[in-house]
Amino acid sequence: MTDAKDETPKPWLRACINFRAGNRLPSCGAVGSREMVAALTKAVEDAGIDWRIEAVHCMGQCHAGPTMRILPNGPYVMGVQEADVPDVIDKLTNDDLDGLAAAYPMPGRDTND
Ligand code: FES
Repeated sequence: MTDAKDETPKPWLRACINFRAGNRLPSCGAVGSREMVAALTKAVEDAGIDWRIEAVHCMGQCHAGPTMRILPNGPYVMGVQEADVPDVIDKLTNDDLDGLAAAYPMPGRDTND
């Protein structure tokens, strides 16, 4: 018998949709995250793949968004735009999470951990 607390949760994508008006502080919503997350959520449904998109307000990477992260322990997926959604769906469908992180890396880092 497996203890429920020992099971690893199924991965999901957390995506920032925070919007800050003006240009004093950057935000994911100001660089297309809301449109991207809406398109991604619809595309996941249309593709019938078992991925959950959790929309949140800020993940502390505001300067490099749109910010997403594969959870519970995965890398960031940075800078995805609405036009990239078909590529993201392709990678999710093929369970290519390393490819997804490599295609949309954290700017300025050699690795995406
Ligand atoms: S506004 Fe998106 S990470 Fe902060």
